[in-house]
Amino acid sequence: MTTSTIHHLLNQMTVKEKIAQLLQLAGPFYKGSNQQGQITGPMADMPITKDHILNSGSVLGVSGAAEVISIQQKHLEENRLGIPLLFMADIVHGYKTIFPVPLAIGCSWDLDLAKQSAEIAAKEAAVSGVHVSFAPMVDLVRDPRWGRVMESTGEDPYLNSLFGQAFVKGFQKEDLTRDFESVASCVKHFAAYGAAEGGRDYNTVDISERQLRESYLPAYKAALDAGCEMVMTAFNTVDGIPATGNKELMRDLLRDEWGFDGVLISDWGAVKEMIPHGVAEDEKEAAKKAILAGLDIEMMTACYAQHLEELVEQGEVDLKLLDEAVIRILTLKEKLDLFNHPYRGASIEAEKEIVGHADHRKISRELAAKSTVLLQNQNQTLPLDQNQKIALIGPFADSFDLLGPWAGVGVKEEAVTLEKALKDHLSEDNLIRSQGCSIEKITQSQLDEALHAASEADVVVLAVGESSSMSGEANSRTNIQLPQAQLELIEAVAKTGKPVVTILFNGRPLDLHGVVEHSDALLEAWFPGSEGGNAIADLLYGKINPSAKLSMSFPYNVGQVPVYYNHFNTGRPKGAPDAQEHYVSDYMDSPNAPLFPFGFGLSYTQFAYDQFELSAEELTLDAEIKASIRVMNTGSYSGDEIVQLYIRDISGEIVRPMKELKDFVRISLEPGESKTVHFSIKEEQLRYHHKDLSFSSDAGKFEVFVGTNSQENHSQFFTLTKKGGQKL
Ligand code: IFM
Repeated sequence: MTTSTIHHLLNQMTVKEKIAQLLQLAGPFYKGSNQQGQITGPMADMPITKDHILNSGSVLGVSGAAEVISIQQKHLEENRLGIPLLFMADIVHGYKTIFPVPLAIGCSWDLDLAKQSAEIAAKEAAVSGVHVSFAPMVDLVRDPRWGRVMESTGEDPYLNSLFGQAFVKGFQKEDLTRDFESVASCVKHFAAYGAAEGGRDYNTVDISERQLRESYLPAYKAALDAGCEMVMTAFNTVDGIPATGNKELMRDLLRDEWGFDGVLISDWGAVKEMIPHGVAEDEKEAAKKAILAGLDIEMMTACYAQHLEELVEQGEVDLKLLDEAVIRILTLKEKLDLFNHPYRGASIEAEKEIVGHADHRKISRELAAKSTVLLQNQNQTLPLDQNQKIALIGPFADSFDLLGPWAGVGVKEEAVTLEKALKDHLSEDNLIRSQGCSIEKITQSQLDEALHAASEADVVVLAVGESSSMSGEANSRTNIQLPQAQLELIEAVAKTGKPVVTILFNGRPLDLHGVVEHSDALLEAWFPGSEGGNAIADLLYGKINPSAKLSMSFPYNVGQVPVYYNHFNTGRPKGAPDAQEHYVSDYMDSPNAPLFPFGFGLSYTQFAYDQFELSAEELTLDAEIKASIRVMNTGSYSGDEIVQLYIRDISGEIVRPMKELKDFVRISLEPGESKTVHFSIKEEQLRYHHKDLSFSSDAGKFEVFVGTNSQENHSQFFTLTKKGGQKL
């Protein structure tokens, strides 16, 4: 089908049929459904008729070749013009083979593996009938109280952009039309959903346009530049207007400024939610605002279905807008080759062979190991020795709750638990088990048994954390410490004097007071996915040396939140040479710095940095400065180090962040080996949004930092010169 045939089809459609293309419903509405689709939002009563359903454009949350084929078949039998349905679902970090949660993947800084994970997710989902994945979620996050931080790759716009692109390329591969093992990607949640006030889900977002452009928008833009086919709007307001009815965001920015011509979809129920937000009196007004603002598909409310026809008849909405939306949806169907192959990749046979394949689990295991961050390792407690007797204690020791939120059709019970994995490494005599406590409760007998187990062992491995229902959508928390029961367990076990290795399973950066001081070694495993236990065992026994680096800061305490590395300075910075004792920007009861900063992560070996050199002190517009640094492995294990480059603009028209990540390189070093790492610094990396929102750099002084994390690094200055005040 060509553009002219899409127009031909459009010409045959009634207004009702056109409007129904804009409706997206969950699986249970359809004939042929087994009623078990994923329900990912409120199921309010919907005033939907049989006609709406049989003319609707897309389905969400249904997967499984048999069910998709059955729904599509019945739909095509009844749909007057034979327009196939699009099947969309949340394939966030895997379909059946589940990878670590995206925040963990962010800590791998491994774009190739991230891309591979999306490719595998796409392949499994596509043979199971899915056409579009509601991913990647690229919302920049600075507030760990927000339950959805686990869906993002973190707090840095540059890193988020790179991951966003990697995921899109993995999902969509090279050719959506011919390669039925790909799925179209839908980047979300446009825009700035991660900036919800107080970290409370769905809450107000109120930030300057400059801040929006500088920190929040780059990752969405990067995903679109990588070819992402769809965008999902956010639930929140942006500058007082809900994103789903926000013309500045959709028509002006996405469509006109960025040239996006793909499909825009609302989040679940977000069109109707303009009523409680307070910008629409009723569903008709909500429908009008959404279509005028540029929204194509309405997910799981019926404002368009109920009111668009009347709005068109009354001349309040131009039919042209409706037609444009329908064309975009039909074009996506065409791109996915659904008019020729309405079942596309869905195949009951291929599904059996491909979904959950052992090769996919291998990649999941590798990625989980690369995503697990070593936060502490006193006295080289890790790696462990197979001859040591281990007491494995804690609610996550034998827990299957390793997949995390948004785990597709992943089956918890198919995850490898830590206990199961350790049994493969250790003789029975060297593994003592004790529950210790549940996630939120501890009894005296559990505690007694745990202390007894610890006393019998050489080392205690404590597996603790938050259950997966404590993060994810609508799961915000004001207390981001571990539950009290687990803190009691950790303290009591530490008092035995046995070395303690604590492994954390969770979906957000935590306040680790009560954990860090009682642990000799600390591993942040996040929700590591289907192969979690195996990956952690690989790390514990040194088969793999940790290399992950935090992509989101761990606050010292919740009172500091939001705390992030790329913040501004103040006029009274703490620690400045001329700072007064009292009148400085600080807390009376807490340091300013996070407990573990962005970019931080240890290895079993040690890396020393020296010989930091810049090739020039002056940068001109058409040239570059080469920054080089020598990194030596001074420890006794081979290992990978992620060498990071940050820049600070010392004086700009607008205050610039204290540091901004501009580049990074992963290197592998054998003990005693050293390598010189080279970076190139160019003027274009120094550009930012000015007061008038123009994107340019300022001549003047810059500081460049290279090192192992955002706080520990070597630094030097250079100057950017522009002839005759040239602005670029
Ligand atoms: O894709 C999700 C979104 O992230 C949150 N609300 C529901 C959508 C569809 O499941």
